[in-house]
Amino acid sequence: MNAASALTRFDITASLPAFDPVPAADGDTVQIDLDARSYPIRIGSGLLGQPETWDGLPKARQAVIVTNTTVQPLYAAQLEQALAPHYAQVRTVALPDGEQYKTWESLNQIFDALLGGQCDRKTVLFALGGGVVGDMTGFAAACYMRGVPFVQVPTTLLAQVDSSVGGKTAINHPLGKNMIGAFYQPRRVVCDMDTFATLPDRELSAGLAEVIKYGPIADMAFFEWLEQNMEKLRARDADALRVAVRRSCQIKAWVVGQDEQESGMRAILNYGHTFGHAIEAGLGFGTWLHGEAVGCGMVLATELSARLGLVDGAFVQRVRNLVQRAGLPVLAPQLEEDSPASASASASASASASASASASASASASASNGNGNGNGNGNGNGNGNGNGANAEAWLHHMRVDKKAEAGQIRFVVIAQPGEAALATAPDALVAEVIAAHSNPHACLMQR
Ligand SMILES: NC(=O)c1ccc[n+]([C@@H]2O[C@H](COP(=O)([O-])OP(=O)(O)OC[C@H]3O[C@@H](n4cnc5c(N)ncnc54)[C@H](O)[C@@H]3O)[C@@H](O)[C@H]2O)c1
Ligand SMILES: [Zn+2]
Repeated sequence: MNAASALTRFDITASLPAFDPVPAADGDTVQIDLDARSYPIRIGSGLLGQPETWDGLPKARQAVIVTNTTVQPLYAAQLEQALAPHYAQVRTVALPDGEQYKTWESLNQIFDALLGGQCDRKTVLFALGGGVVGDMTGFAAACYMRGVPFVQVPTTLLAQVDSSVGGKTAINHPLGKNMIGAFYQPRRVVCDMDTFATLPDRELSAGLAEVIKYGPIADMAFFEWLEQNMEKLRARDADALRVAVRRSCQIKAWVVGQDEQESGMRAILNYGHTFGHAIEAGLGFGTWLHGEAVGCGMVLATELSARLGLVDGAFVQRVRNLVQRAGLPVLAPQLEEDSPASASASASASASASASASASASASASASNGNGNGNGNGNGNGNGNGNGANAEAWLHHMRVDKKAEAGQIRFVVIAQPGEAALATAPDALVAEVIAAHSNPHACLMQR
């Protein structure tokens, strides 16, 4: 097949440190190497509540913890106590919980607290929560007095292995997700395994999608380890989680160190995301969690790689099995072209209208999917008859995705197991991919 000649390949296996499946006895540190903006990611158990964890941060009179109303009662008091020896004043701002609150209004709530509390330009912000809190706090830190130091304390698996690392910060706009933001690196990231104790199963599975993604794009030894340890991860075995978080952060750190502002290689981290974003937009944001959409998206991106002649069907099956064992959906759902919260939403779509729509959709989806088992009975017959998902709607959502350039969809494909590449593909081939993994019965609530 001549498609391979159009690939932009990124083979990073030779320069990555080797995968180490043994957790360090007393915690791990992964270093992000960005010259003057370099910082450590500390990974371990019981870190959050220990004052020593916070040694060596920039000196300041005040620290402000930004969190949300769900995480505050769980972890804010511990963090406040551990920070008390380091700062004369420690205060906490709790924002409302949810992607629909990743807005200017919430950002202003942070600025109100900072200005109202006479916080100076040395004040250190601590983002305590998932990716939503992390993205907003980072952006607030980038803006307040033209930049104050901030620390990421991610409490979801997704935030520990992905969003807290790499310095992308943003809020949403009614016309698009993460459209207003900045590259702004934290001074430190602290990943405490103990915070997973309270994380809902569905959120844990969503985070596992971002863990799995690092295997096919960069490290098949890690992928094999995930195949052997998926049950332990889902049972929240702290050692297994530490190994998974450390390796994910190492790979992300390495990629970000090469391409901080996503001018090239960083795009490989979007494996599964082009199909995934179509699912999120086509079902209405919040119906499937981001990680759930990425899980299904990785199966489709791998199928596309197979149809481009890059990997074999057995590899597609391996990815599909692992995604499914992580409790994630593997069947392509039926999408609508003009869903209420689609990426091409009209200017009149108000933030609050789409917010309440996605909040209620999310609630009903979790109610009917509480077991997080995904849906494993896809036929995968590959006959391309299109009787399942509507390929036109998929292509529409992928063309308007912000990662598409001038309507040209760029897919992250697997050039060979452990190596990613960027490729374009004919619409008809993409339609075959979707049909091969769709099922007329794979409706929204069955996932
Ligand atoms: N900056 C980046 O590079 C990057 C990368 C990926 C995703 N993101 C962003 O991250 C966000 C998604 O992050 P997320 O998946 O962490 O979602 P989230 O922040 O909404 O957290 C998920 C849910 O879990 C709750 N929660 C968090 N920690 C908990 C804990 N320990 N125990 C119990 N509940 C807890 C939250 O309150 C929330 O209800 C999106 O806004 C996405 O755009 C950013
Ligand atoms: Zn993602």
